[in-house]
Amino acid sequence: MWVFGYGSLIWKVDFPYEEKRVGYIKGFSRRFWQGSTDHRGVPGKPGRVVTLVEDPEGCVWGVAYKLPTGQEQEVKRYLDYREKGGYQVITVTFYPRPESNHSPSPTLLYIGNDDNPNYLGPAPLEDIANQILNSTGPSGKNTEYLFQLAEAVRTIMPEDPDRHLFSLEAIVRERLQKRQQTPAIECQD
Ligand code: SIN
Repeated sequence: MWVFGYGSLIWKVDFPYEEKRVGYIKGFSRRFWQGSTDHRGVPGKPGRVVTLVEDPEGCVWGVAYKLPTGQEQEVKRYLDYREKGGYQVITVTFYPRPESNHSPSPTLLYIGNDDNPNYLGPAPLEDIANQILNSTGPSGKNTEYLFQLAEAVRTIMPEDPDRHLFSLEAIVRERLQKRQQTPAIECQD
């Protein structure tokens, strides 16, 4: 059993696996359109994490993990729990990076469709950036999720242009820098 990660599953690997392969899936794009109330936000003040949206021209790079033989159901149960915030499991074809000489094969992945209760949908990048800047949840700051993901995608596939991800990263970094440069206003007696 293989599971494809395109979000936190790329960089937060807190589950056992037997093998991992870098590659991509076709027909989707990665978007920060899923709300998170259990990891990067809280109920009533959700953060934004990634899901996949159908896109005939799209190609999403990530990492596929082979779950340990004999422990597949146990690890999958853990992943179902970790990804419980609106994600459901679908099967797609995984394309390993061409140099690897491995063949395409089926893989499971977690997707937050537009009918799940935490789905937030599209919004201007500036607004998504603001929400990420102002959200924190039990797993930490939403900015950390964004920065870790951008760094992980650059590492596994430096040529991936993922404009949505890297534009958001740039906007959020710029705003953080501005915040640090703006002196805090102190109240005087
Ligand atoms: C994934 O990583 O593949 C699922 C989305 C997430 O947990 O960020």
